[in-house]
Amino acid sequence: MAVIGASADPNSGKNPRKDLQIAIAGDLHGQWDGLDEELLGLLRPDALMVVGDLSDGDQLIAARLGRLALPMACVLGNHDAGRDASGRTLQRQLSLLGDRHCGWGLRCLDPPGLAVVGGRPASAGGGFRLNPGALAVFGPVTMQESADRITAAALAADPGLPMVLLAHCGPSGLGSTCADPCGRDWKKPAVDWGDQDLTVAIERIRRHRPLPLVVFGHMHHRLKRGQGERLSFLRDRAGTAYLNSACVPRHGNDDQGRALRHFSWVVLRDGQLHQASHRWYGMGGQLLYEQRLYQQPAPEVQVAAPAPC
Ligand SMILES: [Fe+2]
Repeated sequence: MAVIGASADPNSGKNPRKDLQIAIAGDLHGQWDGLDEELLGLLRPDALMVVGDLSDGDQLIAARLGRLALPMACVLGNHDAGRDASGRTLQRQLSLLGDRHCGWGLRCLDPPGLAVVGGRPASAGGGFRLNPGALAVFGPVTMQESADRITAAALAADPGLPMVLLAHCGPSGLGSTCADPCGRDWKKPAVDWGDQDLTVAIERIRRHRPLPLVVFGHMHHRLKRGQGERLSFLRDRAGTAYLNSACVPRHGNDDQGRALRHFSWVVLRDGQLHQASHRWYGMGGQLLYEQRLYQQPAPEVQVAAPAPC
C-alpha cells in the first residue's frame, strides 16, 4: 500500500477533458453510515457504485442508499437475501432502492453520462446458482436466459455512452487459484468461482460495443486461512478491465489511530479506463493511502525527425 500526501479534493487538478470519477463501495457487510455519506459529499465523485452484500437482509442501508442524491447504481448480493427463501427480505430492499438497483437491467446516469448494466442479482458465484430468495422474487431463470438479459440491457444503451458492467460476483475465466479475482479460497481445491452467465454476456456485448470495465465484489480481498491477498485487478487482451472491490471490512483504523474508509476509485477518460485504485480516506476527505491498480500509459509524443541536411 503506498502512502501518499494528503489531499482534501481528489478532483483538484482535474484534467480539463471530461473525466468521470467513480467511487465504488465494495461489499458493505453492515459498514455504511452517515459518515460515509458525508465523506462522499467532500469527495464529490460523479457517480457511486455499490456491488451488494449491504448487510444480511437489514433494510437500513438499502433505505439510506435509496435516499442518496448522488447518481448511483447498485446490484444486491447473496447476503442481501438474508437466508429468507420467501424472497420478502430481498424484495423489501429492491423496493427501497428503486431504479438505483440495476440487476439484469440498464441504468443510465445522466449526469454524468454513464451506462451501468447490472449482472444477476443476489449471485453467490460458483458458475450459475440461483439464490433461493432471488428465485422467489424473479422466478426460474436459466444460465442462457440470464446472459441474454444482461446482454440485452447492454445493447439497449446509447452506444455513445461509456459503459460499466456492475455485478455482485465477477465472471468466470479470470483464473482458478485461490488468489485470482474470483478464486475460491474458503475450501480446497481452489477453483474458479466466477459467474458463467456474466462471462457469456461479456463476450456477446463486446461483439457490438466496447466494454472498458467490469466491477464486482463478493470474493473478499483478504484470503481465508492466512493465504494472503487476492489479486483485485486484471485487464484482458480485449481491453476490458476487471475490478474486484470487496475490501472487507471497509471501515478501519491505521496504526496512528486514524479512522479510514475504503472506496475503490476509477477514472474514465474519453470512454476508456484511465486510472483505477483502492483508496483509504480519512474522515476529513484526506486521501491517506492508495494502492494504484492501473494507470493508462501517457500517449507517446511524436517527435519530428530532424530535417536532412
Ligand atoms: Fe457475497
